Amino acid sequence: MTRRYYVTTPIYYVNGAPHIGHAYTSVAADVIARFKRLAGFDVFFLTGTDEHGQKVEQAAQAAGMEPIAFADRVAADFRDMYDKMAISYDDFIRTTEPRHAEGASALWKRLEENGHIYLGAYEGWYALRDECFYGEDELVTGPDGTKVAPTGAAVEWVKEPSYFFRLSAFGDRLLELYENQPGFIEPASRRNEVASFVRQGLRDLSISRTSFNWGIPVPGDPKHVMYVWVDALANYLSAVGFPDETAARWDFWPANLHLVGKDILRFHAIYWPALLMGAGLELPRRVFSHGWWTIEGQKMSKSLGNVVDPRDLVETFGLDPVRFFLMREMPFGGDSDLSRRAIISRMNVELANDLGNLAQRTLSQIARNCGGVLPAQGTHTAEDTALLAPATLLPQIMHEQIDRQALTDALEEVWKVIRACNAYIDHQAPWKLKKTDSARMNDVLRVLADALRIIATVLQPYMPDSMDRMLTQLGVEAGERDFAALDTPLPEGRVLPAPQGIFPRFVEPEAT
Ligand code: MSP
Repeated sequence: MTRRYYVTTPIYYVNGAPHIGHAYTSVAADVIARFKRLAGFDVFFLTGTDEHGQKVEQAAQAAGMEPIAFADRVAADFRDMYDKMAISYDDFIRTTEPRHAEGASALWKRLEENGHIYLGAYEGWYALRDECFYGEDELVTGPDGTKVAPTGAAVEWVKEPSYFFRLSAFGDRLLELYENQPGFIEPASRRNEVASFVRQGLRDLSISRTSFNWGIPVPGDPKHVMYVWVDALANYLSAVGFPDETAARWDFWPANLHLVGKDILRFHAIYWPALLMGAGLELPRRVFSHGWWTIEGQKMSKSLGNVVDPRDLVETFGLDPVRFFLMREMPFGGDSDLSRRAIISRMNVELANDLGNLAQRTLSQIARNCGGVLPAQGTHTAEDTALLAPATLLPQIMHEQIDRQALTDALEEVWKVIRACNAYIDHQAPWKLKKTDSARMNDVLRVLADALRIIATVLQPYMPDSMDRMLTQLGVEAGERDFAALDTPLPEGRVLPAPQGIFPRFVEPEAT
């Protein structure tokens, strides 16, 4: 039986252009999706855009456009960013698509049938930027002395008729969920925050608005549109065919992993499971919340004018160095800073020196001293085994890390092997063996080629383009690049293409 894996990113608001925060979640999901595919899983990787709600409506108005035309334009821009970042999504859902309206409406109806929705009137604080209702007790004093949301977003007093979801009835079941299935929310520090929020008692959730109409009409009462978060969360269901449980993709439900930023954990770890429980649907296996990037030490914001478009970084540094930097620099789950200096340092030290040089040294010696063909596998010495044994374990060790979203640790695991290879090549000095013991030289170069093949195979999810080139240079054919293929050694005598540097050093333009 094929093993299935369903991973999602948040669907992004179309009120602004794609930035590095969006790219970050999506690259992380992409690394996981690519890794699971290489491990033989049938993967469904979902992303998309969140196009309804007052915030998007206002942004469209400000641009002098109809909301849908505005959403079309920004959704296309997100896809462009995805193409430039090599995001291998299987589906891109837009909440303005009919298939989504159908899924979201069906979810609503189930909740209503199960007695979890009632009509009332909402009176309270709303932060448009967060599209979130806040209780009085959650507000804090902003820099100018006014009350603001805990996120710093401005709040307004809203009073209107509204449907409510009986969230208050789900507190105990949610706490039980966090208790019995600790992996449901990760990292653990965030789980504790969520649990203590729930323990304080949950209020029923206002789930419809009447003061604007850019949204999915409430079934049976079209004066109301659905609250944008209920609409948005439903995307994870509608993309797999809900409510049609005979749809081909329905087998992917429940999702294995929702990747989200820490700012939207509450919606995914409280509202979402409660809505699913209310509708009698299975719960996702896991919600993982990652940290935030600052830019050169500062919060990224439109007002500071420091919003980073990932495409600009790709233009300057190249795609794989940027993907590598994002996954390497920030311990997945923590916060980190994105700076030009840090990117260049990672490129020059870890990519150019550690990995690039290793490949170049190995491949150029094979080209020069082995007639450009892959040498035979020799008898392994203790040193050869000491190098190859941990390399061989990489797919397995990393798989366990990837399943915990320890994406940075998994890279560190590969770098341990890369550093060991560099120590090995220095110590074995195959260039000296040419005259004294050419058989051993062949063996050493073959050990290095085998180690590099494993390294390049397991790094494909992080750096698909460069690792594609590295595998080609190592003589690994297209059908030999998944983890299962690593069990079969490459035949000796395979002709290798002329080696070419894969990770050039980055030199500041003014210094050239
Ligand atoms: N539309 C909602 C999500 C609905 S999911 C059912 C939304 N969209 S968003 O466009 O605001 O995108 C938010 C995502 O981008 C979050 O995961 C958030 O954490 C991430 N980031 C926004 N700025 C970020 C950084 N500076 N750093 C890292 N990620 C950040 O919320």
